[in-house]
Amino acid sequence: MTSNHFFFLCLIPLFFGHSIAVDVLKADQSINHTQAIVSAAEKFELGFFTQPKSSNFMYLGIWYKGLPDYVVWVANRDNPVLNSSATLKFNTHGNLILVNQTGQVFWSSNSTRTVLYPIAQLLDTGNFLLRESNSGPENYVWQSFDYPFDTLLPGMKLGWDSKTGLNRKLTSRRSQTDPSSGDLSYGVNTDGLPQLVVWKGNQTMFRGGPWYGDGFSRVRSKRANYIYNASFEISYSINDSNNGPSRAVLDSIGSVIYYVWTGGDKKWEIAYTFEGSGCNDYELCGNFGLCSSVLVASCGCLDGFEQKSAQNFSDGCVRKDEKICREGEGFRKISDVKWPDSTKKSVRLKVGIQNCETECLKDCFCLAYGKLEIPDIGPACVTWFDKLIDVRFVRDVGTGDDLFVRVAASELERSERKSIIVLVVVPIISVLIFLASISFYIVRNVRRRAKAADNGVTITEELIHENELEMPIAVIEAATNNFSISNKIGEGGFGPVYKGRLSSGQEIAVKKLAERSRQGMEEFKNEVHFISQLQHRNLVKLLGFCIHEEEILLIYEYMPNKSLDYFLFEDRRRSLLDWQMRIDIIIGIARGLLYLHRDSRLRIIHRDLKAANILLDSEMKPKISDFGIARMFGEYQMETKTDRVVGTYGYMSPEYIMEGCFSFKSDVYSFGVILLEIVSGKRNHGFFHSEHQLNLLGHAWKLWNEGKTLKLIDGVLGDQFQELEALKYINVGLLCVQARPKERPIMSYVLSMLENDNMPLIHPKEPGFYGERFVLSDINSLFSTSNNVTITLLDDGR
Ligand SMILES: *[C@@H]1O[C@H](CO)[C@@H](O)[C@H](O)[C@H]1NC(C)=O
Ligand SMILES: *[C@@H]1O[C@H](CO)[C@@H](O)[C@H](O)[C@H]1NC(C)=O
Ligand SMILES: *[C@@H]1O[C@H](CO)[C@@H](O)[C@H](O)[C@H]1NC(C)=O
Ligand SMILES: *[C@@H]1O[C@H](CO)[C@@H](O)[C@H](O)[C@H]1NC(C)=O
Ligand SMILES: *[C@@H]1O[C@H](CO)[C@@H](O)[C@H](O)[C@H]1NC(C)=O
Ligand SMILES: *[C@@H]1O[C@H](CO)[C@@H](O)[C@H](O)[C@H]1NC(C)=O
Ligand SMILES: *[C@@H]1O[C@H](CO)[C@@H](O)[C@H](O)[C@H]1NC(C)=O
Ligand SMILES: *[C@@H]1O[C@H](CO)[C@@H](O)[C@H](O)[C@H]1NC(C)=O
Repeated sequence: MTSNHFFFLCLIPLFFGHSIAVDVLKADQSINHTQAIVSAAEKFELGFFTQPKSSNFMYLGIWYKGLPDYVVWVANRDNPVLNSSATLKFNTHGNLILVNQTGQVFWSSNSTRTVLYPIAQLLDTGNFLLRESNSGPENYVWQSFDYPFDTLLPGMKLGWDSKTGLNRKLTSRRSQTDPSSGDLSYGVNTDGLPQLVVWKGNQTMFRGGPWYGDGFSRVRSKRANYIYNASFEISYSINDSNNGPSRAVLDSIGSVIYYVWTGGDKKWEIAYTFEGSGCNDYELCGNFGLCSSVLVASCGCLDGFEQKSAQNFSDGCVRKDEKICREGEGFRKISDVKWPDSTKKSVRLKVGIQNCETECLKDCFCLAYGKLEIPDIGPACVTWFDKLIDVRFVRDVGTGDDLFVRVAASELERSERKSIIVLVVVPIISVLIFLASISFYIVRNVRRRAKAADNGVTITEELIHENELEMPIAVIEAATNNFSISNKIGEGGFGPVYKGRLSSGQEIAVKKLAERSRQGMEEFKNEVHFISQLQHRNLVKLLGFCIHEEEILLIYEYMPNKSLDYFLFEDRRRSLLDWQMRIDIIIGIARGLLYLHRDSRLRIIHRDLKAANILLDSEMKPKISDFGIARMFGEYQMETKTDRVVGTYGYMSPEYIMEGCFSFKSDVYSFGVILLEIVSGKRNHGFFHSEHQLNLLGHAWKLWNEGKTLKLIDGVLGDQFQELEALKYINVGLLCVQARPKERPIMSYVLSMLENDNMPLIHPKEPGFYGERFVLSDINSLFSTSNNVTITLLDDGR
């Protein structure tokens, strides 16, 4: 023992960051934060790290050797050692402990068994285990694989182990830079039919299909290991398919991403992702709903059910004919679906039953059944009670299961054509209805799947990236008649816009963006992905994108009523906008903007808010468009490309024009301009008054000071408006266009003032840019003198 110890100490390097060339830690030995342990074949390393990088929060972790930035396991994720050096050693019971300089314990392996001659070993699987030195690795006392971090390594199991009584789950990080436990977890639901589930707290976010015996659904992945033995263990693991580093990570927004290290490119390649978007969204279609995802996710109902409310598909469906448990009733078969969710209470499984139909009919509460063939055991019947939730058609025909739904006799009498109608018509109809209500997603990325296949990673049906937004160019060409001139509906700031119709019947608007360098494509795709997740009824929905040669195409939902400027600045059409509509439009814009600023995950500054970017749907509800484009383009491009549109004359705030500074308050300024334009029916830029040289803002300010504020209101409105309300709107508009950002209210306050009558109103001061009528060339010369910032102006499309 002593000589071993001595030998060990000799090996310890005295300089920082060096690894101990051994894979074990023996009794009496310890490592401090300058040292590490390396597995026998040098695949994994265990040591200390700080996060954030230069902080004094110290953690004990494991990573692939050479890839310390991707920690795969952390011992003390919720209890970092602070302001001190840290040491890993054994305590008197033979447990591993992590202590600071004064001996305070920050983490312990916590085994209840005393280990006499403990030894801790880091295996080449990445598993760190504690055992008696004279027993093999299989007789471990404690292992790190039983206490997962946010990462699943090949060979590591998720799920239930009766030996230890543990239900192993991945738990997300709180954020990228904070390894402490977040509220998302990923594991195997062992209550009901086993299935992979991502939870938020104790709520299901999304799930894979149920599996039994040897895999999910009918697609049994060879690369994954599913073990079901209710008295022993229920677990899921991934096989090491390429022998190089690979890891599945539950990220802090709830996607499970499987990365494979590509030695050649020296980077992590995404092999597949498992996400809760589209039809995988657990709540999307509600109870008795049926989700279908041909191009976009859409909700229908199971046979015999109908939508509860046309506005909100998440409310689910209700029985058309309540006469269940009567003479003549029966079942309708729905093929190729992911079976409903199940819990112990809501599902029953019986082995050895041939006639499932009779089994279900016996119980008046049985809602549906399905048949199983369990390897080595034989046929079994699954029956559902209580509810049928999260049923979807699978993506690839032939890979789903059959579900038999109980229906009343009257349903069975309908002709057989019905089942075809369900499959085809309901999704399409609901796509159309959907347009106006909920969000939807584009499916499928052939390219990525092909790539994954090259890597030798087989993908199971549930694990394919659901929210792939990339659409093939052929689909878009077909939809827009090869971008024919007759399909062109406008020329936006970033490029031409085409109207199109997908084969599903859905109308789309395709925005062709001017060329962009191939650099930063990955970032760009990420951006598109994030922006597509911004969902609000006052934002235009981004449906997808396509990168074709040098062009980028963005695909949006189509807005039949064009844009606000189309109505507002044309005399005949303007009279169609009555006061109430204008109020609704202003409130809608404010809500959409508030969402971008405050409520969305990205906290986006629009930067080019203007009447032309406010689109109107069939009910004249406003939807902000082009949000995020500024983010996607502006940030990367501003310094190098001077031909990009970053702002529009008349809507840009003083600090933006003068100093190139933008903030949330710059959007508030643009909003104020739009508000005043809406109530007055006049453009700010190009405003003309015979008596003075002021622009619209200056004109409004002048009227305000002269006590003639209401004269600003559009003449075509007559006396439709209430004076107090109109005064309030103008007051808020003037507040939004104050010269100094500090003096403009934030959007939440703006909205409160607009919506409530008893909010205190601040008296506005002089607005920014009210007196000068800028001429384009003046501004250009202004820029040539200020360095570093290049802002391009565009006329607002008249
Ligand atoms: C870590 O341990 C080595 C060997 O015991 C020792 O030389 C070194 O000073 C220690 N470092 C710290 C910061 O305690
Ligand atoms: C750690 O050090 C920082 C500054 O050195 C100090 O502000 C902080 O209070 C210390 N924390 C603890 C737990 O000692
Ligand atoms: C060790 O941790 C304890 C508890 O957090 C703390 O009171 C003590 O100051 C720490 N020791 C050092 C050297 O930082
Ligand atoms: C160790 O066990 C104690 C008591 O059972 C528990 O409170 C503590 O959280 C455990 N620590 C770890 C790291 O599991
Ligand atoms: C889920 O968590 C919430 C809050 O943490 C709690 O109120 C609720 O009872 C939990 N539900 C179940 C089924 O455990
Ligand atoms: C996955 O691992 C299991 C158990 O180790 C093995 O039986 C199975 O053949 C493996 N599958 C593949 C494709 O390697
Ligand atoms: C479950 O696993 C245990 C332990 O390996 C075994 O004894 C038992 O027969 C298994 N049960 C089934 C149904 O396979
Ligand atoms: C739709 O209904 C679900 C639950 O029934 C609810 O959580 C959601 O907020 C509703 N959505 C809208 C837009 O009303």
